Amino acid sequence: MTIKFSGFGKRYGGVTAVEDLDFAVGAGRVVGLIGPNGAGKSTSLRGLLGLVRPTSGYATVFGLPYGQLKMPGRQVGVHMEGLGFETGITGRRHLQICATAVGASKDRVDAVLDEVGLGRAARRRLGQYSTGMRQRLGLATALIGDPEMLVLDEPANGLDPEGIRWLRRLLRSFADRGGTVLLSSHQLAELAQTVDEIVIIKGRTVFAGSLDELTGNGVHQLEDRYFELVNHA
Ligand SMILES: Nc1ncnc2c1ncn2[C@@H]1O[C@H](COP(=O)(O)OP(=O)(O)OP(=O)(O)O)[C@@H](O)[C@H]1O
Ligand SMILES: [Mg+2]
Repeated sequence: MTIKFSGFGKRYGGVTAVEDLDFAVGAGRVVGLIGPNGAGKSTSLRGLLGLVRPTSGYATVFGLPYGQLKMPGRQVGVHMEGLGFETGITGRRHLQICATAVGASKDRVDAVLDEVGLGRAARRRLGQYSTGMRQRLGLATALIGDPEMLVLDEPANGLDPEGIRWLRRLLRSFADRGGTVLLSSHQLAELAQTVDEIVIIKGRTVFAGSLDELTGNGVHQLEDRYFELVNHA
């Protein structure tokens, strides 16, 4: 397993953001995290990346806490809100800095700009980027080190329909080449088209498994099953 949450929990003072989170992800899989607002999705992803320290249990990538990875920038590509961009520099400059930081070759910059469809916007300042362009740049940032794993918090937010389809294909081909993808989303129907496995959380794991398991091989409607599980959690 390339990602593992075991009894993972995080309390902020008196608020339990998430507890008893248990699921694992294997290489070559795209796994989607979904749950209501405040369910603990971002907290869990941040915990996986060592950005918050668990108050119980643990989360590992490639069998280790993120902080113990030898070359995290080359192993795990990350995109989540709050990591921030310097608004005064161009997209290309941002990626050049990221490439240097993770020890990636300069050739990667143009390759990922093309891959995310930002070739024409590469020389514009980030302060002028639209929401979707920032999402694409975030993905480019995640891809710059040619990682084996992607951890993405709501990567489809703000993307147009074409962008969503493009993202789905990009994640699929990344996984087909043996990569691991863990992403969060608010869009159940969209997620269902993208992922191999789904993890529903609401302060804890409500469901973890394949879409077929969730719907009983299509016997139940996805949305009905989701609300049934979430409302009883
Ligand atoms: N830094 C923090 N300090 C205090 N409480 C926090 C902090 N970060 C998150 N929380 C709380 O933890 C809970 C889970 O928040 P989290 O952001 O992980 O949810 P989420 O599933 O990502 O929600 P959304 O769908 O809105 O993005 C919420 O109750 C939130 O208020
Ligand atoms: Mg969130």
